[in-house]
Amino acid sequence: MSQFNNTSTTDDVIAGIDLSGKRAVITGASSGLGVETARTLANAGAAVTLVARDESKLATALAGLQEAVPGASFDMAVLDLADLDSVRRGAATILAQTGSIDMLVNNAGVMACPLLRTAQGFEMQFGTNHLGHFLLTSLLMPALLAGAPSRVVNLSSAAHKFAPLNLDDPNYLERDYHKWQSYGESKTANVLFSVELEQRFGTRGVHSLAVHPGMIATELGRHMEPADFELIAGDTDPADLPYKTVPAGAATSVWAATSPHLEGTGGLYLEDCHIAEAAAGNSTGGIESYALDRQYAEQLWLLSEELIGEPFYSH
Ligand SMILES: NC(=O)c1ccc[n+]([C@@H]2O[C@H](COP(=O)([O-])OP(=O)(O)OC[C@H]3O[C@@H](n4cnc5c(N)ncnc54)[C@H](OP(=O)(O)O)[C@@H]3O)[C@@H](O)[C@H]2O)c1
Repeated sequence: MSQFNNTSTTDDVIAGIDLSGKRAVITGASSGLGVETARTLANAGAAVTLVARDESKLATALAGLQEAVPGASFDMAVLDLADLDSVRRGAATILAQTGSIDMLVNNAGVMACPLLRTAQGFEMQFGTNHLGHFLLTSLLMPALLAGAPSRVVNLSSAAHKFAPLNLDDPNYLERDYHKWQSYGESKTANVLFSVELEQRFGTRGVHSLAVHPGMIATELGRHMEPADFELIAGDTDPADLPYKTVPAGAATSVWAATSPHLEGTGGLYLEDCHIAEAAAGNSTGGIESYALDRQYAEQLWLLSEELIGEPFYSH
């Protein structure tokens, strides 16, 4: 059993853990949970590669982190997950900085945006949240294998409950777009990716975990309108939604990346700093069985390879 819960913070879960000599790579490190995850891992001694798409925003985050953790080792890599060519260039930058990665936190995400398309024409939420990270992880796999035992942490969400992924039309080419359904599908994909990644690389020491961080007021809500807050709140007053602080929100990511409790395990979905139980009708917590289905996870893997136009790293 984990000793932590939904109020545990990043500093609680990292206490007593020394990450000297370790390398972490974190996407979406220019905002919200990514910055706090970077601060925590750096504060425990890790060298951290901050990855984001907006160079000036990333530089501002870096300045704040250098002030928060004086003397820590930070590198930067700029890449746009919504453009596979940019992911390839960014991955090359990261690999030029380090040949070994201990923790890859696939944290970046976009939520409930209008129907938009990535550079290669994928629907924006599926393309950014899943496909961009799928390719990035593949390209960084040689370094993750060099760092083994290493971990890949994929930020999912309780929103995976909104919908299983539609493998026949993941890019909304033949059906009406619904921004929340699409977000839910992309977050289901994040769990399925973790499941299949564990199947393929767990025995080689690269373990994979999916995380629901909780509900945290970050820039993730930039596309939300008042009606969206009411939708999420249901019968609750939107003002009474059970928000976590950013340090409590990032705690499950840090726990996934570093906890000795999780050593040698993977293909799991974590929430509130513990391994989630089956949802079993629970509308807010737990993991839906479809997101852990191995056959479904393998189908997504094969489809993702087809969509990105190259096989996942397999040497
Ligand atoms: N906050 C919550 O309540 C909550 C709940 C469940 C799950 N999550 C998940 O937690 C993760 C972190 O979210 P957050 O709350 O920290 O949100 P955030 O503050 O909006 O941070 C998201 C990060 O992702 C980056 N990003 C977005 N699109 C990108 C792209 N195309 N290429 C590269 N980077 C991109 C953003 O960069 P820009 O600033 O340049 O856009 C930003 O750095 C997400 O995966 C989210 O789905 C959050």
